[in-house]
Amino acid sequence: MRDLVRETDLRARHLIYPLFVVPGRGVRRPIPSLEGQMHLSPDEAAAEARAAAADGVRAVLLFGQPPEGAKDGEGSAAWAADGAVQEALRAIGAAAPDVLRISDVCLCAYTADGHCGVVRDGRVDNDATLPLLQRTALSHAAAGADVVAPSDMMDGRVGAIRSALDAAGHADVAVLAYAAKFASQFYGPFRDAEASAPAFGDRRGYQLDPANGRQALREVDLDLAEGADLVMVKPALAYLDVIAAVRARTGVPLVAYNTSGEYALVRAAAAAGWADGAALAAEVLTAIRRAGADAIITYHAREVARALGRA
Ligand code: PBG
Ligand code: ZN
Repeated sequence: MRDLVRETDLRARHLIYPLFVVPGRGVRRPIPSLEGQMHLSPDEAAAEARAAAADGVRAVLLFGQPPEGAKDGEGSAAWAADGAVQEALRAIGAAAPDVLRISDVCLCAYTADGHCGVVRDGRVDNDATLPLLQRTALSHAAAGADVVAPSDMMDGRVGAIRSALDAAGHADVAVLAYAAKFASQFYGPFRDAEASAPAFGDRRGYQLDPANGRQALREVDLDLAEGADLVMVKPALAYLDVIAAVRARTGVPLVAYNTSGEYALVRAAAAAGWADGAALAAEVLTAIRRAGADAIITYHAREVARALGRA
């Protein structure tokens, strides 16, 4: 009876698995702040994508790290043709051709100050950042990205990236806009993993105030008008109302990001013996689906997909 009347479906096909790619070969290094996740060199990222696909997870989201000492004022390692993300895109394409390759487009892991845009006179310069994001997205598309996902939150970036892709013959590369991305405490473990925390100030100049639901909808409208193919709400769990409101507003595919801090809460509760971790994760992800998300980016992807496979 419960199966017959269940309203919300959570399947492995709804999940997107984030991978943290680093330069090198044969690197598979546990990430201390994200228990269960690894820093992977491009070859190992390809192996991980294959393993995820075997669990039923058929989409990955790539984050990268520059080589040691390569961070600079503009984040120029972000668009290196032989960067870790670019190499991983190629390696995954060869080893796991049925896995969708989504790449995060941002500068914060590549800039010396850890900001998502270039800093001029102590401030993030929105418009000076746009050409750098274009170059980064183009380098990902050239390496085989199916979807580019700008997470920087500069105004106008979706339109800038869309037109650069089209002009370079990449009309079939989709843009997943981090449309409603809030300035959140739920990113802590990720910034530790990516060494991308801002060296001064914070991200409130470009990310949304957690108090602002209506502004989140305006951000979604702007990104859609600029040509976004999919839109994202991030974080997910504390923003289910925003997910539901975006769902009611638009028919485009809606992605929610179950972030590193949300993952940490679940892992901590499980480690303390206060919850069954896999069941708690499935409950959280089901709630995000119930609120209206089509797909969910989650560090729980493989574990939950395996549990669903057994169910
Ligand atoms: C940076 C970026 C962040 C995340 C994805 N891309 C952190 C931030 O904005 O500081 C967070 C992901 C997570 O916490 O899981 N552009
Ligand atoms: Zn960033």
